[in-house]
Amino acid sequence: MRKQIAAANWKMNLSISEGIALVEQLIAQQYALNENRMVLLGVPSVYLLKIRELCPSAFIQVVAQDCSHRNNGAFTGEVSASMLKSIGVNYAIVGHSERREYHAESNIMLAEKVNRLLEHDLHPIFCCGEPLSVREAGTQNEFVGSQLKESLFHLEASRMQGFAIAYEPIWAIGTGKTASSQQAQEMHAHIRSVIASQYGDIVASSVSILYGGSVKAANAVELFSNPDVDGGLVGGASLIASEFSAIIKSLK
Ligand code: PGA
Repeated sequence: MRKQIAAANWKMNLSISEGIALVEQLIAQQYALNENRMVLLGVPSVYLLKIRELCPSAFIQVVAQDCSHRNNGAFTGEVSASMLKSIGVNYAIVGHSERREYHAESNIMLAEKVNRLLEHDLHPIFCCGEPLSVREAGTQNEFVGSQLKESLFHLEASRMQGFAIAYEPIWAIGTGKTASSQQAQEMHAHIRSVIASQYGDIVASSVSILYGGSVKAANAVELFSNPDVDGGLVGGASLIASEFSAIIKSLK
């Protein structure tokens, strides 16, 4: 059985006191969580330690929004996978489209980030997704397939077991424009088939594929009810306790 995950991505939002208040409101709710039904909180790196202390169980964990592709050294402003591990962080988002766009992160660099995380026993949440021009040209499957191949296919099958991928069509991020339930399912099934072509069906069926792009309380149940949609990576709506709580409760 693969994990169903509701992951928040706060991006560069909220003060620490607003963040604490949000997490306190979230954890005051009752959720049926377990190791296959988890909540992940992607908070700014300066908040990781504090928010980690507030997480009541192993089923609600903090997530770094990024990590360096280097091990250590003279890289001002960077945070390494080993640093994240040393403060008890077990998950990190890599390859978010905003990192790809504003920090020129390539598929090759993201392969290195994935390597650093796995070397330190962190779980990557690998983001992929196409821009609007690619969707309009109808070549989104090839585009996303290349992102997966170039950043992940050097990994051994054992590393892909239980891996987490987030499909985030760039045209749906922060735009209020969600992929239709059918578009999400079609791409998620495609991603799973790309993984299966390299690693086989057993590994592919263990991979959690989250949908991201204007997920909100009002569309989460429909999106998550698709057989290949294993939860969501949520930006704007994760900043509102009632919205994100409802999204958590919408997990399969
Ligand atoms: P959004 O962001 O939910 O605000 O569209 C999703 C993301 O970028 O992770």
